[in-house]
Amino acid sequence: MKIILSIIFMILSIQANEFVDSNTCKGCHPTIYSEFYDSSHRKASIFENKVHKGMWDLHPDKQKESYTCAKCHTPTDLELLKKLDENQKALPEQNNVQTQEAISCAYCHSIKDVESHAKLNKNVSSLKEKVFYSANEDNREEKNKEFKDEVSLFGMIKEKSGSPFHKIDYSNENFYTGKMCMGCHSHLQNDSSFDLCRVEEKGSTSEETNCISCHMPKIAGTATSIKITKEHRYHGFANGAKNQELLAEYIKIDFKENTNNFEVSIKNEASHNLFLQPLRLAQLKVNILRNNKTTALETKSFTRIIGKDGKATMPWLADSEVTNTMIKANETRVINYDFKLEKDDKIEVIFGFYSVNPKMIEKLNLQDDEESKKFNILFSKFFYAK
Ligand code: HEC
Ligand code: HEC
Ligand code: HEC
Ligand code: HEC
Ligand code: HEC
Repeated sequence: MKIILSIIFMILSIQANEFVDSNTCKGCHPTIYSEFYDSSHRKASIFENKVHKGMWDLHPDKQKESYTCAKCHTPTDLELLKKLDENQKALPEQNNVQTQEAISCAYCHSIKDVESHAKLNKNVSSLKEKVFYSANEDNREEKNKEFKDEVSLFGMIKEKSGSPFHKIDYSNENFYTGKMCMGCHSHLQNDSSFDLCRVEEKGSTSEETNCISCHMPKIAGTATSIKITKEHRYHGFANGAKNQELLAEYIKIDFKENTNNFEVSIKNEASHNLFLQPLRLAQLKVNILRNNKTTALETKSFTRIIGKDGKATMPWLADSEVTNTMIKANETRVINYDFKLEKDDKIEVIFGFYSVNPKMIEKLNLQDDEESKKFNILFSKFFYAK
């Protein structure tokens, strides 16, 4: 009896321990798969992201052998999450889930709801096997779209509809508003109940403009290789370092010349502060080109530095903001330059960011990582003095 029970338990736990792997989706969703493969979601583990690893190596939870980051960085690794829940030793192993499936297709498309909590929110996953949530205005009522023949034009044309591999549930509102992103992205507090990061909630309430419409815009290319569509939702998750042109329309730079000075303004049309990670350092650089000579004006920095007693610290020690010059949600920041322009001066305006503040590079042991040290340009433009 005991043996039978434990076999049943094993079978049950095998099923409960796995999401369908993303490689399976690849066959019918090749374009989306290749975007996903290159995205920070696929690469969210310590094995695929050097910055995350650098921070983890210093984190006190590593000494405690408890990879608490898994809840958001590798939630597909159910085995690891189970160990975390049971307060067992839970360290990530370099296996297929950690390297290929950190936040997988099936994981995301199974997020049923998001529970709000003070420290960090929690994703509630659907337990229905192979029923994926998706958004589609025309089928909103449909909870269990199956694979079948659909006959149209008075029975003249027979067309397959649905997916031969899975069912689709179009009724989950969270896939229309972007709330499904908020289990991981909303906020994270440390043990001092201090916000390490927070995304304004209003970006996940409207069906017109939200996390999905901005970060997963519809771009050319079919969503499946079976049913051909003109467009699909971009799954590379645009950010400042990759495909930033998809986001460029939400950051506007302007220039205004006065008699004795000039102004550069940056308008942030994102629903959240321009950068959210305290590691980021954004900078505005302005050069004046006159008679073949270039004069660099003072570089302006925009950042949110966290720490304690007025000094920057690692996130787990922080209890306050040391500085916060980050451009806020929907803010237009005007920067004044005390510089008298002359006719025909050419003004070069460059706005960009370091994904890791250069002051943190050595602490995180990233001196050999070119990507972290690079200045990513979001915007580079010339203006002309009148
Ligand atoms: C509540 C969910 C959540 C938890 C828990 C969490 N993170 Fe994150 N982390 C995120 C999100 C979301 C991002 C991306 C957000 C952004 O870039 O603004 C991120 C980004 C990062 C980055 C920046 C990565 C880069 O490429 O620049 C680092 C470093 C990081 N996390 C470290 C950790 C460590 C270490 C832990 C565990 C001790 C952890 N995080 C736990 C949600 C979480
Ligand atoms: C971080 C979460 C996330 C991950 C990971 C993810 N998706 Fe999506 N996906 C979404 C959201 C949100 C939408 C937009 C709303 C909708 O249509 O479901 C979407 C849309 C889609 C669509 C709808 C068709 C279209 O218009 O593009 C398909 C198909 C799809 N995803 C397949 C996949 C596959 C296959 C993978 C893995 C290779 C994947 N998704 C990974 C969140 C995710
Ligand atoms: C055997 C082929 C096949 C496989 C494998 C497959 N899909 Fe699909 N999928 C389809 C087809 C075909 C559609 C389009 C159905 C329709 O619109 O009628 C679809 C649609 C979807 C949609 C909804 C698109 C919409 O209409 O908004 C999502 C989400 C999705 N698939 C996710 C996944 C995920 C995640 C995986 C892997 C776990 C996967 N699919 C594996 C064939 C497949
Ligand atoms: C299961 C948790 C989870 C979900 C759900 C999720 N993300 Fe993420 N996201 C992360 C983590 C963790 C990272 C950081 C990965 C890293 O860099 O290590 C990230 C990275 C990103 C980035 C890149 C950030 C940067 O600084 O480069 C964007 C943009 C993003 N996510 C947008 C979204 C959107 C939009 C949704 C909803 C459609 C979503 N995410 C859903 C956990 C999640
Ligand atoms: C109106 C468009 C818009 C909306 C809505 C929006 N974003 Fe953004 N997001 C941006 C822009 C613009 C940037 C910053 C520029 C960049 O990183 O290139 C950005 C940056 C980010 C980053 C990277 C921040 C960093 O520190 O590197 C994450 C993560 C992110 N957004 C997540 C979200 C989530 C989650 C939502 C929904 C609550 C959301 N965004 C809603 C436009 C938008």
